[in-house]
Amino acid sequence: MAGGIIRAIVTPHTPRMGIEESAPDFVKAAIKGSYELGEEIRAAKPDVLVVNSAHYVCTFNWYATTIAEHKGYAVADEAPDLIGGVPYRYRGDPEYGRAILDEIKALGYPTGANDSPHFQWDYGSWVPIKYIDPKAELPVILIGTCLAADLEECMRVGGAIRKAAEQTGRRVAFAASCSFTHKLVRGPEQWPSEERLAADRKFIQMLTKGRIAEAKAWFPEYTKFVVGEMGGRNIATMLGCIDDGAGVKYVGAEFGAYCQSSGSGNTSVSVRQAA
Ligand SMILES: [Fe+2]
Repeated sequence: MAGGIIRAIVTPHTPRMGIEESAPDFVKAAIKGSYELGEEIRAAKPDVLVVNSAHYVCTFNWYATTIAEHKGYAVADEAPDLIGGVPYRYRGDPEYGRAILDEIKALGYPTGANDSPHFQWDYGSWVPIKYIDPKAELPVILIGTCLAADLEECMRVGGAIRKAAEQTGRRVAFAASCSFTHKLVRGPEQWPSEERLAADRKFIQMLTKGRIAEAKAWFPEYTKFVVGEMGGRNIATMLGCIDDGAGVKYVGAEFGAYCQSSGSGNTSVSVRQAA
């Protein structure tokens, strides 16, 4: 089958999800959703899993990993008592990582290859990957969140990630690792406000119903209203991965259930081309 984005995903990483055995009850449905999402993704047999985490933060350049093997310890820098150093080991995909960077560069944006063997994953990358692919079956590429990029640039970079997939023949699952609303408050069990919950439900429904053009058009206003994580950059990149050109139909699915965590809204949503 030809290369392309076979799944465009939003999936959560709240640090309370990190260690399943000690996770509080209110994130259990999110963990279940991440496992179910992983089963669905792996059944679709992608060549590579690309994760764009809200906690892998870059200032000016777009970075992608180009190492053949990821190996290290995941520590949640903001909550080392919750995720204090868990070993991980996954294969990489240097060729596709470099192809992504070439396509981003062709758009005129600065890039850099992350080929450091000493690089350690942020927990926003590690949490979803450990549930999506617990046996490390899939090669993984991490892409940083670029602070100098606005939402439009993020969407265009999503298009570059898709183009690189088509050119290299890679069947790619792309995951934005972030929450939906992200108006954080102290208190792990706090829910988002009613208004932000309603906005999240409306946006998630656009994705699950495959109303991608509508989701893209509303996204800047929506993410501002819900105080999107990293300004909405990760979801903007995910939306940019989806080709909403004429004649292409999409369907989506939500996995598990929407959960609160310190005022944020968390759930796994996957979009794919309709059969
Ligand atoms: Fe986060």
